[in-house]
Amino acid sequence: MTMYTQLEKGTFIPGRREVRYGGDYNPEQWNRETWLEDIELMRHAGVNLVSVGIFSWVMVEPREREYDFTFLDEILELLGAADIDVDLGTPTAAPPAWFWAKYPDAHPVTREGVRLGNGSRGMVSPSSPEYRRAAVAVTEQLAARYGSHPAVIMWHVHNEYGAPISDSYDDYSVAAFRTWLEGRYGTLEALNAAWGTAFWGQVYGEWSEIDAPRLSASVSNQAQRLDFQRFTSDALLECFIAERDAIRRHAPTAPITTNFMATNCPSIDYWKWAKEVDIVANDHYLVAERLDNHVLLSMDADLSRSLAGGRPWILMEHSTSAVNWQPRNIAKRRGELARNSLAHFARGADAVLFFQFRASRYGAEKFHSAMLPHAGTSSRVWKEVVQLGADLSRLGGALGSRVQARVAIVWSIESFWALDLEWRPSVELNHRERQEAFYAALWAMGVTIDFVHPSHELSGYDAVFAPSLYLLDAEGAANIESYVSGGGTLAVSYFSGIVGTNDEVLPGASPGALREVLGLEIQEFLPLRETETVVLDNGFGTGSAWSEDVLVTSAEALASYESGPAAGQPAITRNRHGSGDAWYVSTKIDGADLSAFIAQVLESAGVVIGAPPAGLEVVTRAGDTEQYTFFINHSSDAATVASPTGARDALTGSAAAPETTIPGDGFRILVSPVG
Ligand code: GAL
Repeated sequence: MTMYTQLEKGTFIPGRREVRYGGDYNPEQWNRETWLEDIELMRHAGVNLVSVGIFSWVMVEPREREYDFTFLDEILELLGAADIDVDLGTPTAAPPAWFWAKYPDAHPVTREGVRLGNGSRGMVSPSSPEYRRAAVAVTEQLAARYGSHPAVIMWHVHNEYGAPISDSYDDYSVAAFRTWLEGRYGTLEALNAAWGTAFWGQVYGEWSEIDAPRLSASVSNQAQRLDFQRFTSDALLECFIAERDAIRRHAPTAPITTNFMATNCPSIDYWKWAKEVDIVANDHYLVAERLDNHVLLSMDADLSRSLAGGRPWILMEHSTSAVNWQPRNIAKRRGELARNSLAHFARGADAVLFFQFRASRYGAEKFHSAMLPHAGTSSRVWKEVVQLGADLSRLGGALGSRVQARVAIVWSIESFWALDLEWRPSVELNHRERQEAFYAALWAMGVTIDFVHPSHELSGYDAVFAPSLYLLDAEGAANIESYVSGGGTLAVSYFSGIVGTNDEVLPGASPGALREVLGLEIQEFLPLRETETVVLDNGFGTGSAWSEDVLVTSAEALASYESGPAAGQPAITRNRHGSGDAWYVSTKIDGADLSAFIAQVLESAGVVIGAPPAGLEVVTRAGDTEQYTFFINHSSDAATVASPTGARDALTGSAAAPETTIPGDGFRILVSPVG
C-alpha cells in the first residue's frame, strides 16, 4: 500500500487500486442497444476506464451556446452503474460545422499558404480568439455539469495537440507571433541581434513587418523558424491551459491531462508541457512494417516515464492490432498485443488503454483495429483482449512502483527542430536516426534508459549519452560540463554542441558548447559521399555519412581514421575532464561497432551490462518491498534466464524455479523482494 499513498494525494488516477484497463469509447456512433451490449462486454473483459466524448462537440452543443447533454447523461449513468470509470474528453479537436461556417478565419493555413478546410478533425488556428472562446465555453459547460459526477474520475483535454497539424500561418497566428516575440525580446534591436538579420539584409524596423516564416524563395531565417516552432508549441499549450483551468474551476481534485505522442510529435516541447498536466498520458502506435518496432515502443515508453519525472503515467492509446493510416497496416501477430501492452506497463505505465473499444463502421477509421473488432467476440483479438484484462487484474501490486535507470540519453526537441532546418552540411545529419541507433544498442544490452533534458540534474546517472545534440544553450552546456567534471561519464556523437539558442554558430572552433569538456576542436566538417565508408583503426570498425578533421587539445585519441578525407586524424576520443570522462565519436558507427563503443563507455562508467538473450526485454519496476521483473520475449525462440532470488510468478503466484524459461513470443512476470 505504501507505494500508492503518494499517488492517492491527487497526482494520479483516483479510486480503486487496480491497473486501469480500457480505451477510447465513442458511444455517439452507436445506439442504446449497442451501448448496453458494449458495457456487458467491457465488464467481461475487465475494462474499468474509458475515455468518452473526445469527438462529440456537435452532440453537446448542436448550435452555438445551445447545449444538449442527453447522450452524455445517459451513457455516463450506464457506465457508472456498471462500475466503469470515465475519463471525460473535451471535444475541442473537432469543432462543429456551425463553428466553421460562422468563424471562417479560424481555419489554419499551411506554410505553403493553403487554407485548410473542415469535414475532418484536427487543430484550428491555435491563436484564433473565436476558437479559444468556443473551446473554453464548451469545456466550462461540461465541467460544470460533470465536475462532480461520480463516474468521471479524470479529464482528457482535446486530442493529441499538434496532430495532424500544428503550425498555422493565418493572420491570427502572425499577430500572436509578433506579441510572443515582443514578450521574448522586448526590443527590435534585441530581436534583430538574436535572429542575425544583418544576413541577407533582413533587418526589421517595425514589429508589424515581421511575418510567420512562410514558404519563400529560398531558405528562411533559421532563428525565425526556430522561434516559430517555440511559439507554436506555446500557443497550443495556452489552448490546453485555458481548458484545463476551466475544468479545474468545477473539478478541483480530478487529474487533468492530454494525450502526448512522446517521440512522435515533431511540434511540441513536451518537457515544458509535462509541467502543466497532472499526469503524463501517451499514445503510441507501432511502425507496423519495422521488425524492430518493439524497440521503438520501449523508447517511447521510456520517454513518457521520463517526461513524468519517473512517476507512473498512462498509456492513453495504442492499438490491439493494425492501424489504418500506414502504407501497409500489418496486423499484430498472436501475443503481440499483450507483449506491447506489458512493455508499456513494465516501463512505468499504470494504465493500459487502447484506441478504441468498438471498431467504427463509418468514417475514416473503419479499418482500424479495436478491442472489439468487426468480427466480434469470436475473434482472436477479442480473446486476447479478455486475457490481457485478466492478467492486468493480477498486477495491481505493481501500481505506483518505479523503474530505475542508471543511464540516460539527452533528448532536446529544440535541438531536433534546429537540426531539421534546411542547409545543413549533409542530409545524413538526422537526430532521430542517431537517437534510435544509440537507444537500440542499449536496449539490446538490456540497459534501461531515462531520457533527460540538457538542463536536468544528471549526477544520479552513471553514464549519459548525447547521440545528437546540435543545439545546446549556455545553461545546458554548463550543466553537462559540471556533470562530467563532477565525475560523470558522457558520450557524444558528431555534430553536437554546434549552435546556441538561436541557431547561431558558437564562437570559435566547433563544437563551441562542448569544446572544453571534450578536449578537442573541429577544424573542418568532412561529410562523406552517399555510399562512402571510412575505416577506423584499433578495432573500432567502419564509419559512414560523416567525418571530421579533429584536433585534440586535451583528449586522447582512441581511434584514428585509416581512410577517407580525415585519414590520419583522430576519430574517437576520450577526455579526462575534472573527475569525469567525456567520449566523442566523430563519424556514424552502427551495428556491432556502435555496440562495442557503447559497451566500452558503460564499462568505464561501471555499468553492469545484463546482455539478455537476443530479443528478450527485461525491465524491473520496484516498490518499497517488492519488485516486478518483466521478461518479454520478442523472439520466437524460447529464452532461459536466472530467476531473481525468492521470486514467484506474478500471475499464478507459484514459486519460480532458479531458472525461468520464457516461451518464444511470450512473457513471464516475476515478483521478488527488493534488494
Ligand atoms: C490517434 C488518435 C485517435 C485515433 C488513433 C488511430 O492518433 O488520437 O483518435 O485516430 O490515432 O490510430
